[in-house]
Amino acid sequence: MQRVAIVTGASSGVGREFVRQLDLLKGGPLDAIWAIARSEDSLKELADSCTNVPVLPVPLDLTRDGSFSRIQEMLENQDVVVEWLINSAGFGKFGEFATVGDTQNASMVQLNCLALVRMCSIVLPHMHSGSRIINMASIAGAIPQVMLATYSATKAFVLELSRMLDHELAPCGIRVTAVCPKFMKTKFLDKPGDSQAADGMCRIGFEDVSRVVSKSLGYAIMGKATCVPSLHMKLLYAASRCMPRSVLFKLEDLLFR
Ligand SMILES: NC(=O)c1ccc[n+]([C@@H]2O[C@H](COP(=O)([O-])OP(=O)(O)OC[C@H]3O[C@@H](n4cnc5c(N)ncnc54)[C@H](OP(=O)(O)O)[C@@H]3O)[C@@H](O)[C@H]2O)c1
Repeated sequence: MQRVAIVTGASSGVGREFVRQLDLLKGGPLDAIWAIARSEDSLKELADSCTNVPVLPVPLDLTRDGSFSRIQEMLENQDVVVEWLINSAGFGKFGEFATVGDTQNASMVQLNCLALVRMCSIVLPHMHSGSRIINMASIAGAIPQVMLATYSATKAFVLELSRMLDHELAPCGIRVTAVCPKFMKTKFLDKPGDSQAADGMCRIGFEDVSRVVSKSLGYAIMGKATCVPSLHMKLLYAASRCMPRSVLFKLEDLLFR
C-alpha cells in the first residue's frame, strides 16, 4: 500500500512550500505526493525539484465538478492510504462586497469552501488512524475583516468546519488542523482587487511562508485543531473575542480604511 500526501494549491505559495517540506520528510515517510493546481508547468517544475519523494503533478481546476471524479478515480484505482490531505488552494479579493462583484464573490465560496468540503469527503475514506488534514484558513476567518467580507466568511467556515471535523474524527485517530496566518508574500496578493484596501490591511505585517508551513505540520502532528502561527495574532484574536462586532468593525475602519 502506497503512503500518499495530497496537496491542493501546490503550484505556488503555501501549497508549494508544503510539498517541499513533505519532500524533506517533515511529515514522516511517504511514497508519493499528489500535487494539485491548474498550472501544469509549475507543478512539473516543482516535481522536478523534489528529491526524496516522487511528486505527481495533477493539473485540475477545483471549481469544476469533473475534477473531483478524477481524484476519486485515482484513489479508487490504486492501493493507497492518504497520510496527509492539505487544502491550500484558495484566493481572496479585497474591497467592498458590491465592488468585488458577483463572479468573484461566488468563486471564493466555490474554491475556498466547496472544493475543500469535497476534497475532505472524497479523501476521508482513504485515510487511517494517524492521518492528518490541514486546512488553510486565515486570521481573517478568526477575526472578521472589513473590506474582505466574503473572503473572511469563507475562512470562518473553514475554521469552524475544521474544528468540528477534528472533534468528530479524533476517536478514529484522524486529526484536522485549521491554519490562521496573517499575510504572506505569495501570489495571493498579486491581483488583490482593491489594492488600496489591500495595502491598508497589509499594515499588520507579513509572516514567513516556510515558518507558517513548518508550524502547521508540527501542530497537525501534535493533533491541534487550530494553528495561529503569529503570537501578535494570537493575542489580537483573544482580544477580539471579548469585543462586540460593531466595535471591532469601527476599529478596523479607523485602522485600515
Ligand atoms: N498569502 C496570504 O497572505 C494568506 C494569508 C492567509 C491565508 N492564506 C490562504 O493560504 C492559502 C494559500 O494561499 P497562497 O498565499 O499560497 O496563495 P497563492 O500563491 O496564490 O496560491 C494559491 C494556490 O491555489 C491554486 N488555485 C487557485 N485557483 C484554483 C482552482 N480553481 N483550482 C485549483 N487550484 C487553484 C493556485 O494554483 P493555480 O493558479 O495554478 O491553479 C495556487 O497554487 C489560500 O487558501 C489562502 O486563502 C493566504
